[in-house]
Amino acid sequence: MIRKMERGDLLPCGEIYARAFPQEHWGIDWTQENAAAYLQDFFEQKKFVGYVYEEEGQVLGCVFALRRICGSREEMYIQEMAVLPQRQGRGIGRQLLDTVGAYCREQKLAGMVLYTGSHAPAARFYETNGFQVSPGIICMYRDM
Ligand SMILES: CC(C)(COP(=O)(O)OP(=O)(O)OC[C@H]1O[C@@H](n2cnc3c(N)ncnc32)[C@H](O)[C@@H]1OP(=O)(O)O)[C@@H](O)C(=O)NCCC(=O)NCCS
Repeated sequence: MIRKMERGDLLPCGEIYARAFPQEHWGIDWTQENAAAYLQDFFEQKKFVGYVYEEEGQVLGCVFALRRICGSREEMYIQEMAVLPQRQGRGIGRQLLDTVGAYCREQKLAGMVLYTGSHAPAARFYETNGFQVSPGIICMYRDM
């Protein structure tokens, strides 16, 4: 079942996140603790919207999103989502995204926005779920 995220979910979500983004693939040394701290920063924001997928008391997937003003309307930014690797590909991600989508429709938000690696497999997942590459926007970065 899907339910609204609570503070007590942050540590299990940190574990899912660290497992879903292993260092050998992503080059970042995520641990349950530093991932939970990272995710907590979203959770504590005023416009946070988050859900977990839970089965028999175990959290198996999560989505972290933030509402952001865009002129007279608002958009939903999907910040992070992750499903426990051994449970991926069974519709949990789709259900989480659909739940955020239903919230957006109900609240009359203009749309959903997200950033993902251009070569990451998740891009296909988002396309399957109705997202398109946004025309006219590029992501820029400056090394320090
Ligand atoms: C991306 C992620 C959240 C998707 O969740 P999931 O539960 O595995 O996805 P679902 O089972 O709901 O998949 C829904 C659809 O997307 C497709 N899909 C899922 N993962 C995919 C992948 N890696 N490549 C291509 N298609 C994918 C599925 O085939 C399915 O389509 P179908 O119903 O037509 O068969 C999950 O795989 C994950 O945590 N990945 C690692 C972390 C990550 O990349 N997070 C997102 C970073 S922005």
